[in-house]
Amino acid sequence: MGASKKSTYKKSAEELRSHRWYGVKDLRSFGHRSRTAQMGFTQEDYTGKPVVAIINTWSDINPCHTHFKQRVEEVKRGIWQAGGFPIELPASTLSEPFQKPTAMLYRNLLAMETEELLRAYPADGAVLMGGCDKTTPAMLMGAISMNLPVIFVPAGPMLRGNWQGATLGSGSDTWKYWAELRAGNITEQDWQGVENGIARSPGHCMTMGTASTMTSVAETLGFSLPGAASIPAPDSRHAQMASQSGRRIVEMIWEDLKPSDIITPVAFDNAIRVALALSGSTNSIVHIVALARRAGIDLTLDRFDELARDTPILANLRPAGHYLMEDFYYAGGLPALLNNLRDLLDLQQKTITGKTLGENIEGAKVFNEDVIRTRENPLATSDGIAVLRGNIAPNGAVIKPPAAEPHLLKHTGKAVVFESYADMAARIDAPDLDIDEHSIIVLKNAGPQGAPGMPEWGQLPIPQKLLARGVRDMVRISDARMSGTSYGACVLHVAPESYIGGPFAFVQNGDLIELDVPARKLNVLISDAEMAARQARWVAPEPKFERGYGKLYQRHVSQADKGCDFDFLETIPVKHLDAGEPEIH
Ligand code: FES
Repeated sequence: MGASKKSTYKKSAEELRSHRWYGVKDLRSFGHRSRTAQMGFTQEDYTGKPVVAIINTWSDINPCHTHFKQRVEEVKRGIWQAGGFPIELPASTLSEPFQKPTAMLYRNLLAMETEELLRAYPADGAVLMGGCDKTTPAMLMGAISMNLPVIFVPAGPMLRGNWQGATLGSGSDTWKYWAELRAGNITEQDWQGVENGIARSPGHCMTMGTASTMTSVAETLGFSLPGAASIPAPDSRHAQMASQSGRRIVEMIWEDLKPSDIITPVAFDNAIRVALALSGSTNSIVHIVALARRAGIDLTLDRFDELARDTPILANLRPAGHYLMEDFYYAGGLPALLNNLRDLLDLQQKTITGKTLGENIEGAKVFNEDVIRTRENPLATSDGIAVLRGNIAPNGAVIKPPAAEPHLLKHTGKAVVFESYADMAARIDAPDLDIDEHSIIVLKNAGPQGAPGMPEWGQLPIPQKLLARGVRDMVRISDARMSGTSYGACVLHVAPESYIGGPFAFVQNGDLIELDVPARKLNVLISDAEMAARQARWVAPEPKFERGYGKLYQRHVSQADKGCDFDFLETIPVKHLDAGEPEIH
């Protein structure tokens, strides 16, 4: 259905998907109505109304979503006001700080859960409530596959951290002060002060980490109300946005405005541009690729590199810059940044407002040009990320150049190899470790299958003896990811990963590795014959899982350059497998 037809289209009540549960007169619908009555609702509450699922990732173990207990009431208020019937469906919380070995292992599980909740229950559309790193891509992946009208309510960033008058940013200042503690420059008491002051309110990490990047990506793709991603979680305007989202989803259901109406290859280009202009998390690359493949769009790493070459970095936010998300919001937020990027974006892209991206940002203004830079005064003119290739990363690896010390972007050094995270943890601070600031630290077996789950181990620690000498950055290479709040000359996402026999597995202690970011190269300086000999000697490790989710994950997860989705969930043209005949129990 074309956009112009769509804008005047209004579904009839009989066309609602939930009509099959509630509207028909049969034994099964008796069950649905009688059980809804059991929950205290009368037929007036839902008859002829869109049923809106609220997929809520609140839990007692997710500090980024503590306010969702209140926000869900505001979403419900909006849905009631607009004539919908809200049903809250709790879903896996994916709490980044607590879930081990990494929440990334479970991103695809929440994606499946989102899709199947929407399929199995009488949902006409959904409000997705997430924000802590993996929740955003997970819920959107599932929603894209199910293709019902959805609106994303981002958790919003927490307030600025504070310690002894200094502003603290999630993650970034953790790494910074941890290094200072290990170097002996601050005391245990200082460290305790940082611990108590760095996370002061509900909301997700307030640096430009994965959470802020992905909620901004979601808004740019058109899944959230304009400006939603930048509002701090405790701000009263966040509660207003929640109820507005509740009202809007009811309209979207009547309009039949679905993800397939708003996401196109060009919408992904817009999202990549924004992630780059924000100097966003490298994790967003994996998630954006996965989202695109869910939409049947084969987005490659090369597209990120191409767009990075002429996208300026305009957001002066940690870890690449100075400020935090609270400052970004007061400076005008994402609409203001988008407005500064106008000529690089396709403004005709449709969004969940029913309007175009261009219409959504009409009149957006910057109120602090140090936080959101002008095009004449960017933080950097290009290269928010760089995609590297070479004989140890034939399918690509990524680096975030603005987060690295510039002299390391073209560097050759001797590899100091760790075969696993445990190996690294055991030896990195050994006084007799043969390493200096020119060495290149290599961590293997940290990828999607090898770790498993491709944890955020990629900001490999600098040995204590070098920290004490004032070294704060070194070239580090792994097939892991890195927290979006991290910084350093860290080459990440090496593909294929070492655990499955990618050539990265064949790097040995003492090999010379050449990193050349301007030329986009990453090579170990050995001959092809030597590489082939090492490959012939390589023995595949035993599988890590005999049963359960781990076994499913290991069998089906794709490599980093393909988004780490499950092969059986991606790239399939959207095909609606509706609930069919709902069962009565
Ligand atoms: Fe939830 Fe950082 S811990 S976003």
